[in-house]
Amino acid sequence: MRTVEWNYQQNKLQMIDQRLLPGTFEVAVFDDYRAVARAITEMLVRGAPAIGAAAGFGLALAAMQSGANTPEGLLTDLQSAADMLKQSRPTAVNLAWALERVLFSLTPVLSQGESGAAPSSIGRGGGEGGINALRIAVLAEAQRIADEDVEINQRMARYGAELIADGDTIIHHCNTGALATVDWGTALGVIRMAHEQGKQLHVLVDETRPRLQGSRLTAWELTQYGISYDIITDNAAGYFLSTGQVDKVFVGSDRTAANGDVANKIGTYMLALAAHDNGVPFYPVMPTSTIDLALANGDEIPIEERGPSEVLSLTFQGNTTFPENASARNPAFDVTPHRLVTGIVTENGIINPPFVENIRHTVSMLAS
Ligand code: MRU
Repeated sequence: MRTVEWNYQQNKLQMIDQRLLPGTFEVAVFDDYRAVARAITEMLVRGAPAIGAAAGFGLALAAMQSGANTPEGLLTDLQSAADMLKQSRPTAVNLAWALERVLFSLTPVLSQGESGAAPSSIGRGGGEGGINALRIAVLAEAQRIADEDVEINQRMARYGAELIADGDTIIHHCNTGALATVDWGTALGVIRMAHEQGKQLHVLVDETRPRLQGSRLTAWELTQYGISYDIITDNAAGYFLSTGQVDKVFVGSDRTAANGDVANKIGTYMLALAAHDNGVPFYPVMPTSTIDLALANGDEIPIEERGPSEVLSLTFQGNTTFPENASARNPAFDVTPHRLVTGIVTENGIINPPFVENIRHTVSMLAS
């Protein structure tokens, strides 16, 4: 199944509970947009494109939950649901992007007025033609976002796979695979595509403290794809890079500024520094929906700081790993300056420096 999927029999959203992997595969079912917002905050679903798709479907649930009896009333309810969903995690711009896209898609439906009503499988009964048309439109746009995500990831993967040579060893950070997206993945999708093209690869999987998305999720996916890997501690990456054991680094992104500064999972910056120091190419892979042209540089990207319990939950040989009453800091992302980036892989091709000009060109090419 997809990581994020609408169940048309039940009119509910279902998502793989990523907190339980790799030990337990469980699918959580949602009929309340507030629960979807909580699931994003608590990282039942995580990864920038996956939370964007989840938020889009969250709005479809909000449309079904709304008791409004005018289109205007429904729009007010949708807007407040969107505000809540948007606050569930601050760094990944895909979240706001998906919500805005769903709301924007309602403009033509609204202008058609009540006469545009169509029979609805998610309607709340007769006599609500205009409202039902809006409900249908919300779900349709959320579904389009989800379907496009898979298609975009595969396109991106084909571009990215051209950068991978037979026999390469690749460092990968966090989880950017099928689990971080609706399906297929971004950076891990590139690696998967190269593998499917018959290239022999080896992946060094950063375990990715504190939530271990690398060892829990990326290693789980690589096992299923039959791709060779070793899990490494995050602090071992510099050693492998400096001893000539790595050919390329591939990572994802949660938000990339107009100048090519890349926000991604905490630890990406140190990885990029070590790659740069050793002349190893560093490629972030992202759909253009991750590029935030409104932000001139990475200093403006909001960085989520999560609770200290994620850092302080580690045990070693059955014992806690910190003194009683220890405090901790837990930024979830960092920003890699564009000077450390070799090229950015998107669904529209690979963006090379100078990033300011080339990013704007690639994104506006898509819009036109
Ligand atoms: O905190 P997470 O697990 O949501 O962070 C995920 C990442 O940092 C990924 O690299 C990013 O979302 C892009 S992957 C599709």
